[in-house]
Amino acid sequence: MDFKFKKYWRKTGLNPKWGNVLIEIVKQKKPKHFLEIGVFCGVTSRNICEFLNLVQNGDFTYTGVDLFGDDIGDDDEMKPSYIANQKFSNPLKHIYYNLYLKENLNSLKSVKKFLKKFDNKISLHKGDSNKVLKNLDIKKIDFAFIDGGHSYQTTFNDLKNIYENIKGKKGTIVCDDYQDVSYITDVKKAIDDYVKKESLSLRIIEGKFAVIDI
Ligand SMILES: C[S@@+](CC[C@H](N)C(=O)[O-])C[C@H]1O[C@@H](n2cnc3c(N)ncnc32)[C@H](O)[C@@H]1O
Repeated sequence: MDFKFKKYWRKTGLNPKWGNVLIEIVKQKKPKHFLEIGVFCGVTSRNICEFLNLVQNGDFTYTGVDLFGDDIGDDDEMKPSYIANQKFSNPLKHIYYNLYLKENLNSLKSVKKFLKKFDNKISLHKGDSNKVLKNLDIKKIDFAFIDGGHSYQTTFNDLKNIYENIKGKKGTIVCDDYQDVSYITDVKKAIDDYVKKESLSLRIIEGKFAVIDI
């Protein structure tokens, strides 16, 4: 199947090149219950929903967690600079989203609207993943994409909270920003430490995605 990752004229953490690499990993695993930590403006979410809708004939769920504008006051966290002021390099996007729609793309309301087509398949949760994941029922998740807070502690906690819920079952955890491409060493260190602690196997895809097969 020829599926191409689209940007949908929004802001995205993954450009189409990396989006297609992620889709390829998802294609190999064919999950039914997808969790994304760090939804941002919903572009990866939308691509994942479109893809799973096709390959699973509508039989899938998508769960997303994001601060959606909440400030957790942690100086260790690197926030995409875009979030603070919704700056676009394309002036037409500035006119359309900031002046005409007056819509903050990294808000729960905007992402809900953007994913409306999949209303009955998705659940979106606003808040700090360090806390939100503890209160969410994520036992059925069989694919998690971790791309939220990039500090050591948040990456480590996200891995721990997810792994403890899905261990013993077949599943996949993919973390973004492992090495080379983005040089976010806190993320790499947290993943390496967690994988070592739990004796998990780790595959690195193109120096960017860390894949843990469970
Ligand atoms: C790099 S962006 C995610 C990009 C998105 N996965 C994509 O592919 O477009 C990181 C997102 O994580 C969110 N975030 C940062 N720290 C977080 C935390 N502790 N809990 C939940 N979300 C967090 C930010 O609000 C931001 O939207």
